[in-house]
Amino acid sequence: MQNVNQEDLVKMMEHVRVYANNGKVADYIPALKKQRPEMHAVAFQHINGECVSTGQVDYNFTIQSVSKVLSLAIALMEHGVEAVFSRVGLEPTSDPFYSISTLEVGKPSKPLNPMINAGALAITNMLCGGNSEDRVRTILSLIHRITGDDTIYYDEEVAKSEFETAFLNRSLCYFMKQNGVITGSVEELLDTYTKQCAISMNVEQLAKIGALFANDGKSLDTGEEIIPSFYSRICKTFMVTCGMYNASGEFATKVGIPAKSGVSGVILGVVKNLGGVAVFGPSLDEKGNSVIGLKLLEKMSAHYEWSIF
Ligand code: DON
Repeated sequence: MQNVNQEDLVKMMEHVRVYANNGKVADYIPALKKQRPEMHAVAFQHINGECVSTGQVDYNFTIQSVSKVLSLAIALMEHGVEAVFSRVGLEPTSDPFYSISTLEVGKPSKPLNPMINAGALAITNMLCGGNSEDRVRTILSLIHRITGDDTIYYDEEVAKSEFETAFLNRSLCYFMKQNGVITGSVEELLDTYTKQCAISMNVEQLAKIGALFANDGKSLDTGEEIIPSFYSRICKTFMVTCGMYNASGEFATKVGIPAKSGVSGVILGVVKNLGGVAVFGPSLDEKGNSVIGLKLLEKMSAHYEWSIF
C-alpha cells in the first residue's frame, strides 16, 4: 500500500477545510463551545515510523469518545472476552450515541455495544482499581506507552464542565445500576468517564494510537505487544460497526476503514499494515461527526484505495 505523501495531504486538507462552517461545534459540554470551527489538523503515522501532518498540528483537543476504544481494550485485557460481553452487547444501533431507549426495551437490559455512551460507561465501570484516580491512571499509562509521551493528561476544565452537566449520562448510569449492569458509585464512575473523555492530545500523538492498531497492537518502535492482537482486532471491529455511531454504515460505504469519532471534532482511523490517521475539525454534522474529518477521510480513502471492503 502506498505511503501518505505530505504534499497530497496538504492539498486534500486545502480542499476540505472550506467546509468548516457547514456544521456546528458541540455545545452540550459547555467548555467545548469555545472551540473555533475553522481549526483543522491531520496527521498520518506510518507503522514504519514516518509521520506526515498539516494544519494546527500542535493544537491539543480532548479525545472524547475516541477514549472508548482504549477503555474497551483495557477491559478486555483485564477481564477477557466473556466477562466484557456479559455486560455489553456486540451489535450496532441506529439510535444516537446518548440514547437511553434500547436500555429500556432490550432484553436483557444491557447496552447494545461498547461505543455508545451507555456501553462505554458500563466498560469504564469494569476497569480494575480502587478508585477513579487508579482507573484514569491506567488509561493514561496505556496512552503514555503507545505514544512514548508521559506528559499527556486530561483537560481539567473540560472534564469538570462535562461532570457538572452530564445529566443524561447520569440517567444512563442509574438505569443500568437498577438493572445490575453497573455497580458502585455513579458519581465516581462519572468522574472517571469524564476525565477519560477529556484526555487531551494533538493529531500526531493520536495518530500513533491509530498506528498501534494498524500494527495489530504491537509497538512501532520495539515490536512489543502492547494490546494482544485478538483484542486489537475486536476494537477495530467495533470501530467499523459502531465507531461513527449511527453513521457507521454510511462511513463504511464511503471510507471503509475502522474509525472512531469524538464530539470535540476528532476522528481516529486505522489503515491496516500502513498506519493511523487522526483528523481534527470541531464543526460537527447532525450525528456528531466532524464535517472536515469525514470529507478528508473520504478523499484520502479514495485517493489511496484504503477501503477494506
Ligand atoms: O459522553 C459524552 O457525551 C462525551 N463525553 C463523549 C461523546 C462523544 O464523543 C460522541 N461522539 N461523537
